Amino acid sequence: MLGNTSATVATEAAATTSPTPAPPKYPHYLPTRPDGYAATTDVPLFHAEEPGLRADPSKPELSKAATSLRNITPRIGTEIHGVQLSQLTPAGLDEVALMAAERGVLVLRNQDFADIGFDRQRDIVRHYGPLHQHPTMGYPAGTGPEFHVVYADESVGTLRDLLGPRPSYDLWHVDQTFTPNVPSTTFFWILEGPAGEGGDTAFTSLQHAYDALSPSFRETLNHLEVFHTSASVGEVARIGQERALREAVNTVHPLVIEHPVTHKPVLFVNPTIGRSVQGFHASESANLLAFFHDHIRSLDFSCRVRWEPGTVVVWDQRSAAHSAVPDFAEGERRHMVRMIPYGSQPKAAFPRTGEAPR
Ligand code: SIN
Repeated sequence: MLGNTSATVATEAAATTSPTPAPPKYPHYLPTRPDGYAATTDVPLFHAEEPGLRADPSKPELSKAATSLRNITPRIGTEIHGVQLSQLTPAGLDEVALMAAERGVLVLRNQDFADIGFDRQRDIVRHYGPLHQHPTMGYPAGTGPEFHVVYADESVGTLRDLLGPRPSYDLWHVDQTFTPNVPSTTFFWILEGPAGEGGDTAFTSLQHAYDALSPSFRETLNHLEVFHTSASVGEVARIGQERALREAVNTVHPLVIEHPVTHKPVLFVNPTIGRSVQGFHASESANLLAFFHDHIRSLDFSCRVRWEPGTVVVWDQRSAAHSAVPDFAEGERRHMVRMIPYGSQPKAAFPRTGEAPR
């Protein structure tokens, strides 16, 4: 979601500020955008494999390599030590997809991933599907828009600047859900964290958000559909409402989807991109979505991931929504990279009787 709208000017602006900040630890990963900011491109429906479906459910490769597997909370998040993502076989990478689908988010510590080079990083994430090409975020020089550099420093602002003055700065969302195929097993890794505290990323389980609702309420939701648009909260803030709407890429997804790997029902809401309930009056839709957007923030089924050097987070975007936590001191450098493969088209968890599944 986050874009570095002024990323290309980062290094120039940094030169004019004082005192001189420490140089970045990964200068070759600074965000650039020599091709400029493109309009969002539509990606027509295509058949996507789900690697998690190929995995051995007992996850033998992960079990053998892991020295510790600790659930962050019972409902979401597992912290893993001992597994080196760059050393996994294709079957091991499939196990990662399965586990990310089940647990929502995996936090892998002491990884060499940041240092294995662009080609190997790209190859590993491409195992999960074709990579999303971000229309606006900066990427490391010599690579392409499949690398999404999330960058903040003394000249490039954070989510706080993007959203302007407000009382709190979470921005829960699922990435890029405005196309028929949606993001799946996403990789996000740290290059350099703020020198002080903060800059965590929070995740919330959309499966447990659904499970928490009463059976009667769930019944009323099961056949609803939501309109998703690239004219998102972030995009409107970046280029203005008129242009965002003119260039928008839109689609419709069921509100309650069947997770393609776990087959569990998921409340597939997306506060920034899933903007209205089909067939509802605007006020009905706004009120229902406002309820969900508040509901998914619950501490009951969310967790906060603290970044340490060498951390790679792998999450399943159908299982979990996420938010940056921009609570680090203004001007501190936070340098991260994300890569997003596409998975399959979300299917309704409860298709109407007689309705062909999408
Ligand atoms: C994102 O919202 O995609 C980035 C999250 C983060 O910076 O922690």
